[in-house]
Amino acid sequence: MFEKLTGMFNKQKGTDDEKTLLQSIDRSRLPQHIAIIMDGNGRWAQRRGMPRSLGHRAGVESLRNIVKLCSELGVKVLTCYAFSTENWKRPQDEVSYLMDLLVEYLQKELDELHSEGVRVNAIGRIGELPNQPQEALKAAMEKTAGNTGLLLNLALNYGGRAEITDAVIKIAHSLNNKQLKIEEINEKVIAQYLYTSGMPDPELLIRPSGDFRISNFLLWQLAYTEFWLTHVMWPDFKRIHLLQAILDYQRRERRFGGIIKK
Ligand code: FPP
Repeated sequence: MFEKLTGMFNKQKGTDDEKTLLQSIDRSRLPQHIAIIMDGNGRWAQRRGMPRSLGHRAGVESLRNIVKLCSELGVKVLTCYAFSTENWKRPQDEVSYLMDLLVEYLQKELDELHSEGVRVNAIGRIGELPNQPQEALKAAMEKTAGNTGLLLNLALNYGGRAEITDAVIKIAHSLNNKQLKIEEINEKVIAQYLYTSGMPDPELLIRPSGDFRISNFLLWQLAYTEFWLTHVMWPDFKRIHLLQAILDYQRRERRFGGIIKK
């Protein structure tokens, strides 16, 4: 059943190699913003008889490769779901491992990200993260603040409902301070109060690992996003998978609730 579904969603050919895919992609119609739910690390590791932590470590490698490819292609924004507001429910050692991995990733990759012109950003309730990850994020964001290449959003302690709640609180303060009038509130204004203020909505959402869920990710921003789902686990997600997803996106007809006259 799953194969049937993914087959329907992803008209991908098993024989596609990277060069062919790169040639097939229309560079003038790239998604400006790609969002990824980096799922399947735990199952990937467990299926190999390894601890879940090694799945997360392997997931960092996929993240590195995909950031590099997005940067090479000229994608404007990449948002990766790295830790949700619900992930605190995991065992303490897994949470600590993920926090340490984030610090390690930022420290090891910062120079390369900077030299590629990547601007690192974090979205979520960052102030509730432990000190070390907060410090590492601050250093990465400060160092890369002037870069004009790919904007890499790491979604950390991120929840779509938390983001909307935070936006409502900020809007209430603006009303209170008389910086905003009720009659001025519209969808555009609400978007300006989200963590993604000033960024285009994602045109493409990728979820590996075979789950068909939104998992509290970018609930407002994904209203008209094209979904690309695959059974491939995140640690096995390679450059060709991203290229397949982009190519598939470019073949879709986006109607935004309207109709396209032929
Ligand atoms: C979901 O897989 C993945 C996460 C909760 C963490 C994602 C983190 C990484 C890819 C690596 C770390 C990234 C940074 C920036 C440090 P899962 O654990 O839910 O897998 P499962 O569904 O198979 O259990």
